[in-house]
Amino acid sequence: MDFTVAAKYLKMLTEHPAAPEELPNGESLFYEWDPSLPYSSDVYATQIEKDPDKDFVILNFGDIQCHDGEAFCQVGEMAEETMDKLIRGIKPDMLSLSGDNAFDPLAYLRLIRFLDAYDIPWAACMGNADQRGLVSEFWADYQMAHAKNSLFDYGPKGMGDGNFIINIVQDGKTVHTLFYMDSHHEEMAPDGSEYYDHFWPSQIAWYEWAVRGIAAEEGHVVPSTVIMHMPVQEYIDAWKSAHDEKTGELKEPFRSMDFCKVHESFGTPRDNNGFFDKCLELGSTKLMLCGHDHINCFAIPYRGITLAYTMKTGYGCYWEKETNGGTTLSVDGNGNVAVGYHYIDPTKSRVKKFVIDYYGIKLYGPKDTD
Ligand SMILES: [Fe+2]
Repeated sequence: MDFTVAAKYLKMLTEHPAAPEELPNGESLFYEWDPSLPYSSDVYATQIEKDPDKDFVILNFGDIQCHDGEAFCQVGEMAEETMDKLIRGIKPDMLSLSGDNAFDPLAYLRLIRFLDAYDIPWAACMGNADQRGLVSEFWADYQMAHAKNSLFDYGPKGMGDGNFIINIVQDGKTVHTLFYMDSHHEEMAPDGSEYYDHFWPSQIAWYEWAVRGIAAEEGHVVPSTVIMHMPVQEYIDAWKSAHDEKTGELKEPFRSMDFCKVHESFGTPRDNNGFFDKCLELGSTKLMLCGHDHINCFAIPYRGITLAYTMKTGYGCYWEKETNGGTTLSVDGNGNVAVGYHYIDPTKSRVKKFVIDYYGIKLYGPKDTD
């Protein structure tokens, strides 16, 4: 890192607001919302144009999650090399992060700088780890909202960080909506045990308000994708429907699907807050995409909604080398969305020393069996 960049980073660390209260003139950046407000895409959504002659392709990176030290050594180089190969190979219309973007502030700044360099619009939701080592979660919001090519928005007040709407528009019509939603963090139970929080009732009300509002604007329910960090509990049911527990085998057609696996327990919220059922009731959301469980990877249609894990990107925190890469969401002119997994083989990495040194070592996750 050169001195100019280091100085810029230090300024961002020390001078940028850590909380909305630190903003001048009581400015909030989050907006006031209640369900009685009339919905308008012009006010509450970002529009992004789709070329009518081809699918709109979103390339999502999962749980890059580097510490500061890692971001500036081979762990970070490895993740950046993976992302660079994917971006150059796929040439996506938009980049996306599904949370646990980085543990620490310098790693966050480096990641934002890296993504911005491609001049492709990008968006991100927040993961449970996007606060631990940072100045604050709001500080990370602030960095992303100010990045040149970022579509990140703070969202409504009192619903966490980064609940926002992106409409994919073709010939003046919204064909598909992306909901980025904050699934929050670990909470402490009275007995001292930790559990995962999930969407709050106000977020579910906001989602319903937007789905109905967009439908009213377009004259029909518009298909949508929810991008969130933690999976809803129905991911477990979806896996049970695709996997024979007795034999340990995948059922058809999942047997022939690449990268379909559950190698760690589901990090779902403790409670089912009814979000999946609300999505079924409203009929808009056709896909949910989450990260969080680094070594689980699947896309399983379940009761009309495809429940998908993103593929993990890079080594950060823990990984399996068999599923290193990115995930595409391809939206066609009718708003249908298809999931694609794109593997980048780490053994072909030019960051060879990293690969040799780190194979078999898992600092935080289950031990590699190789
Ligand atoms: Fe993670």
